[in-house]
Amino acid sequence: MCGIFGFKGKGNVRGIIKNGLKTLEYRGYDSCGFFLNNKNFTLFDKKVGKGKIDELVLSLPFKIEEEVIVLSHTRWATHGQISEDNAHPHFDCKKEIVIVHNGTIENYQFLKRDLEKKKHKFISQTDTEVLAHLIEENLKKDKNIFFAVISALKEIEGSFAFLITKKGENLIIGAKKNLPLVIGFDGDNYYFSSDPIPIAKYTNKILFLQDDEIFCLDSKIKFYNFKKNIQIKKEFDEIDLKEYKITKGIFDAYMIKEIYEQPEAIEKTLKYFLDETFERLLKQPMPERIIITGCGTSWHAGLIGEYMIEKIIRIPVEVEYASELRYKSPVVDENTLLIAISQSGETADTLGAIKKLKGKCRIFSICNVEKSSIVRESDFTLLTKAGPEIGVASTKSFTSQILILYLFSLTYLFKKRKIDREKFNDICNEILKITEKISFFLNNNNVEKIAEKLIYKTNALYLGRGINFPIALEGALKLKEVSYIHAEGYPAAEMKHGPIALIDENMPVIFICVKDKLMKKVLINMEEVKTRKGFIISVCDFISEDIKKLSDDIILIPHVSNEYMKPFLTVIPLQLLSYYVANKKGIDVDKPRNLAKSVTVE
Ligand code: G6P
Repeated sequence: MCGIFGFKGKGNVRGIIKNGLKTLEYRGYDSCGFFLNNKNFTLFDKKVGKGKIDELVLSLPFKIEEEVIVLSHTRWATHGQISEDNAHPHFDCKKEIVIVHNGTIENYQFLKRDLEKKKHKFISQTDTEVLAHLIEENLKKDKNIFFAVISALKEIEGSFAFLITKKGENLIIGAKKNLPLVIGFDGDNYYFSSDPIPIAKYTNKILFLQDDEIFCLDSKIKFYNFKKNIQIKKEFDEIDLKEYKITKGIFDAYMIKEIYEQPEAIEKTLKYFLDETFERLLKQPMPERIIITGCGTSWHAGLIGEYMIEKIIRIPVEVEYASELRYKSPVVDENTLLIAISQSGETADTLGAIKKLKGKCRIFSICNVEKSSIVRESDFTLLTKAGPEIGVASTKSFTSQILILYLFSLTYLFKKRKIDREKFNDICNEILKITEKISFFLNNNNVEKIAEKLIYKTNALYLGRGINFPIALEGALKLKEVSYIHAEGYPAAEMKHGPIALIDENMPVIFICVKDKLMKKVLINMEEVKTRKGFIISVCDFISEDIKKLSDDIILIPHVSNEYMKPFLTVIPLQLLSYYVANKKGIDVDKPRNLAKSVTVE
């Protein structure tokens, strides 16, 4: 979703803004813009379309000796089509108040009508522009822009992170609610961003603004809580930003780099769990019922969690899309546990579901970003340590999430005294062995060759059973997201109730067929597809005469006997397949069209 990057200082402004915006590209964008503010002059430009950052920053000075303020923005269209008028920054009528914003002002139409009656002229269809005009209106009664912004914040409803400046003034104001805003200070210059990644290049002195906080920076920086109307003290922390200094390294794209990072992500997540989470989790009460929620890939991880938790600890689990859960009337009480799963910790619907159930049941989150909104709203967090994920399509986060769900189940099993510590440790060692198997497969596989056969296809079907049914869903989602091929995941047997009508020699059917108690059933489903001339790609951990006879192509993955560990291996070829198909089609896999990494609107 939209990305905000701001700067106050001197130096290579063009380079700094270019780096800032380019680092935020991964969030998804369709237009970009900036406003440079200085006592003596201002500069402003916008560009429409993806990949326009290089062109945009040409309007910025290469080097500047005087102090300037720059607000810049990547927009992912929500209110109003993709156009120059709707790109940020936005202004008031006099073009003096300048704003870049991430989020949604839910009551903007009501406010806009009121402002129009007061003769304000709007140029865009965005909700953001309303805020600029509201501040302009408030300035008629408030003493200065800071108070005018605070008054405006009391009138708006929704989620936001924004930066504001006023033409010709050495001033930058920023505030946030539900969406992230990070400030960096290198001793001379200030940096503002939607996440720490663009700042990591310049300083490790970072401050995370919290909900309902606002700052005002002129000659010095002051912080306030705008809800309580009080000044607050906040310090910059020196944090280890090593993991935020991200490059593609030897890889062509972040997505493939992140697929290859999975063994490391699993190891780090396991270590962190054992060192920091296990003992604390043991002290948590045993729930009677669990609801798991999330969106996209995180929701798929939840389905695997359902399978693991119900089978391992025998607690009933329901899995709900967060966007549905937040508007349902779920029956919960103090013995219910909500587990919200999110890589980013900022997904609006997941956050909405948490807020809906807050105070009504206990809330755990499984999250990859420690200082995120979802973590803050939860009673307890199980952190994944996958490291920043830049590719829009989630990969290493998924395997880390399912690892946490497995560890959660094992910890409660231990708490129930069904396994001892030795057994628990043995399973953890087994998990470490899986990372070696994943590494081996990543470096020895035939997936790229098979991908050639899919590039001209328009549809694909992914079929699996049991714990591998959610993997089929995830495989289909990955293919859709990055290669724009329509794909559906189904429980293999359910295929007979509809999708079978689509099968002919043009329909690739990807079967997950591993050695487990459902294997024979899957082979029967393969037979049904073969009879109808479907093109079968089998992902399996064994080779048999049946498999050879039924498959057009076989992807052989390493075998692991523990059924709960199979998904860690079955998902890898499906991630690779999507990457290779998209790559061969010439698609920018890290920034597929229309998608955003962190979906901060409903
Ligand atoms: C977006 C991303 C997906 C992700 C989903 C949920 O749609 O493109 O890759 O799975 O959001 O994100 P979260 O950060 O909550 O896991």
